[in-house]
Amino acid sequence: MLEKIQETAGFIKSRVQTIPNIAIILGTGLGELVHEISDKKDIPYENIPNFPVSTVEGHSGKLIFGKLGGKDVIAMQGRFHYYEGYTMQEVTFPIRVFQALGIKYLFVSNAAGGMNGSFDIGDIMLIDDHINTFPEHPLRGKNYKELGVRFPDMSDAYNKELRLLAMQIAKENNIKLQHGVYVGTQGPTFETPAEYNWFRIIGGDAVGMSTVPEVIVANHAKMKVLAFSIITDLGVIGKIVEVTHEDVQEAAKIAQPKMAYIMQEVIKKIN
Ligand code: HPA
Repeated sequence: MLEKIQETAGFIKSRVQTIPNIAIILGTGLGELVHEISDKKDIPYENIPNFPVSTVEGHSGKLIFGKLGGKDVIAMQGRFHYYEGYTMQEVTFPIRVFQALGIKYLFVSNAAGGMNGSFDIGDIMLIDDHINTFPEHPLRGKNYKELGVRFPDMSDAYNKELRLLAMQIAKENNIKLQHGVYVGTQGPTFETPAEYNWFRIIGGDAVGMSTVPEVIVANHAKMKVLAFSIITDLGVIGKIVEVTHEDVQEAAKIAQPKMAYIMQEVIKKIN
């Protein structure tokens, strides 16, 4: 695994002039942020050695290099989901490559169902914390000291300073920003009403099928993480209706300019 990571990082270094210290993962329907990136250069996943290839509709699959908020960034347009059949090592492989490249900050976005009764479709939720219900853990197995410690701390998995910065920016710009706990689940089914209720009871505000594996590995790699969910449907008793992938993409599209704005402003303020 270590050689594969080095090989992929080496390939990227040979293709790109400046290696950023900020990486961004764009979730379902949230790829538009790439239009804000200037001086773009992209590398499709299929051209990157050892990279899995994304299979889901709405996830186009490339690494984009360029400038956002005046800083160099790498953006992943399309991520790898556990439900697609990848192992957790494959799902989180890009994070390991980011680690090898020296990435210090990871920004993450996703589409999620809202269980908190005060949430509306189209809201942005700053992720304060998560609950991991995936059946497989990305750090299970041999621990490579070079990558991180055996028992990583998760008490600040979503960096407090970055969260405060995001909240401040949202407030100054009159952007409604909810915050709460993200429950990561394997999917690919959306939840039954009883499951949404269960996730609410255990302390969740939103639920989705991604993010948690990447954030665990990013924390193992000592990156600072900032993550947002766009609430695309509601898992609130009395408000639950049929939901499709298209509905999720549509709702995410509408909310994304505001999330992109916050991300961009946070990027301007970090080193
Ligand atoms: N559940 C799980 N994942 C999701 C949802 C949901 O309601 N909405 C968007 N992704």
